[in-house]
Amino acid sequence: MKLTTIITILHICGALAKSCVPRSYGYSSVVCVCNALHCDEIPPFKKPKNGHYITYTTTESGQRLQIQEYQFEESATNHTNIIVTINSSERYQKIIGWGGAFTDATGINVNSLDQVTATSLLKSYYSENGLEYNIGRVPIGGSDFSTHGYSYNDGDEDPELLRFNLTSEDFSYKIPLIKEARALSNGNLKLLAAAWTAPKWMKRNGQYTGPDLLKDEMYQPWANYFVQFLRAYAKEGIDFWGLSTGNEPSTGLIPSKINSVGWLPSLMATFIANNLGPAIRNSEFASIKLLTIDDQLFMFPKIIEMIFQNEKAKNYIDGFGLHYYWNWLPRNWLKETHDKYPDKFILSTEACEGVGLDQPHVKLGDWGRAEKYAADIILDMNNWVTGWVDWNLAVDLTGGPTYIDNNVDAPIIVNSTAGEFYKQPMYYALAHFSKLLPEGSQRISFTQTSSDILVTAFMRIDDTIVVTILNRQLQDESVEIRTVNRDENRKIILTVPAKSIVSILY
Ligand SMILES: *[C@@H]1O[C@H](CO)[C@@H](O)[C@H](O)[C@H]1NC(C)=O
Ligand SMILES: *[C@@H]1O[C@H](CO)[C@@H](O)[C@H](O)[C@H]1NC(C)=O
Ligand SMILES: *[C@@H]1O[C@H](CO)[C@@H](O)[C@H](O)[C@H]1NC(C)=O
Ligand SMILES: *[C@@H]1O[C@H](CO)[C@@H](O)[C@H](O)[C@H]1NC(C)=O
Repeated sequence: MKLTTIITILHICGALAKSCVPRSYGYSSVVCVCNALHCDEIPPFKKPKNGHYITYTTTESGQRLQIQEYQFEESATNHTNIIVTINSSERYQKIIGWGGAFTDATGINVNSLDQVTATSLLKSYYSENGLEYNIGRVPIGGSDFSTHGYSYNDGDEDPELLRFNLTSEDFSYKIPLIKEARALSNGNLKLLAAAWTAPKWMKRNGQYTGPDLLKDEMYQPWANYFVQFLRAYAKEGIDFWGLSTGNEPSTGLIPSKINSVGWLPSLMATFIANNLGPAIRNSEFASIKLLTIDDQLFMFPKIIEMIFQNEKAKNYIDGFGLHYYWNWLPRNWLKETHDKYPDKFILSTEACEGVGLDQPHVKLGDWGRAEKYAADIILDMNNWVTGWVDWNLAVDLTGGPTYIDNNVDAPIIVNSTAGEFYKQPMYYALAHFSKLLPEGSQRISFTQTSSDILVTAFMRIDDTIVVTILNRQLQDESVEIRTVNRDENRKIILTVPAKSIVSILY
């Protein structure tokens, strides 16, 4: 064999080694299998040649971010049934970023793999050949995706926080993974901290769960606890971009197995104005972004208005965290929130599928859940949301571990016995956004002549226009994209396959 032939063969093997190894588990689409020897990669975006545009296609039938380059059409044809008209002069919110959560469950699953496969999993999210995530959400202490309930100051009452300490979970499951993700993302990692429960002795019912409120005299110790957490992580070399006023304050007001602190709006306002705000802004973490709500769509904008009746509380807050689980409510409540408080950002801070009665919790290869993710992101983007943060980066085949049996799905599922992990269709749905709309990308205006497809449109900082289309129909759709203020004579006419997500970049 000639040397060039051998090189060609090696080349082909190299290329094949980067593509999806599909496996069907009997649901509507496939997972891509990764192990110590193999994992598919998504190369970083490269601008198309002049006069060309690029499409990325992911389909129920098995395509995964398939890249194609085309020439613009010079003349009009009339065979399209949907026209999308872009006006890039009209601009909206800028993207902050995309990410997932470093829960204990994530750490346990990643650590259950050999070192090579574990790194490959983190690369799948944070490297330039993965989703290019730039956000990580970090529970302050335990969440429902831990092996037991805990805080950083369990035991007897200790308002001075003399016993405050990180736990073995931080050192095994969180800190090493966060550091590796940060290295894989070349340091481009914004961390967002959120507490589930306070120590039992700070709470009126003495439990990790609700329905409950914090004791009045514990507001200041609870605020100091947040600062202690930031200090403890800083000591480990980890700095935070954002801090939540607390995960799902509404959960803490109802009977639920989820560890939580309940807040009524007026009490939350008092806590922010008199305790948390001053504690943070007078600390070495003064410039951290403070997010409130961190809860469902039903809080927007009504509960925010109630909290912001307290002007001091309003001034301390930079933005709002939104959770996914009530997303059937009117999405324009987010636009209303933006219009009322245009200087505060809205960030989606938690999402997952397969919750509660939606079983099996893990559906390996299910396309419907990818569609739900893509639809949610598009509707969020079209209503002023600046980014989207997923829940667990990885769960096991049952959707855990979770000590309260709150099992759910995730974009990556770990099978530790096989030394494998599976990239779900949801993973590739996320890629269309996280990978192609980096921080600073700005939403631009568009109109569409049919509601058969969901559309959003952005301008990246490299001046590339990105149009993202979700087709949930059972048939292909023929779509024409016109741009009123750029390349006006150059048309894009394409077929958006049945059950697909297509991103067009030009
Ligand atoms: C396309 O439609 C427009 C108006 O609807 C018409 O003026 C034009 O002649 C048509 N072009 C072709 C190539 O059929
Ligand atoms: C595009 O948007 C700009 C800014 O809103 C507006 O002035 C302009 O009229 C729009 N162009 C068209 C063709 O709609
Ligand atoms: C805090 O935790 C670390 C690591 O688990 C341990 O080495 C240290 O002794 C603990 N400190 C206190 C005061 O408990
Ligand atoms: C997980 O791996 C084990 C061991 O290889 C295998 O028997 C099992 O079928 C796998 N489970 C799934 C859902 O692939």
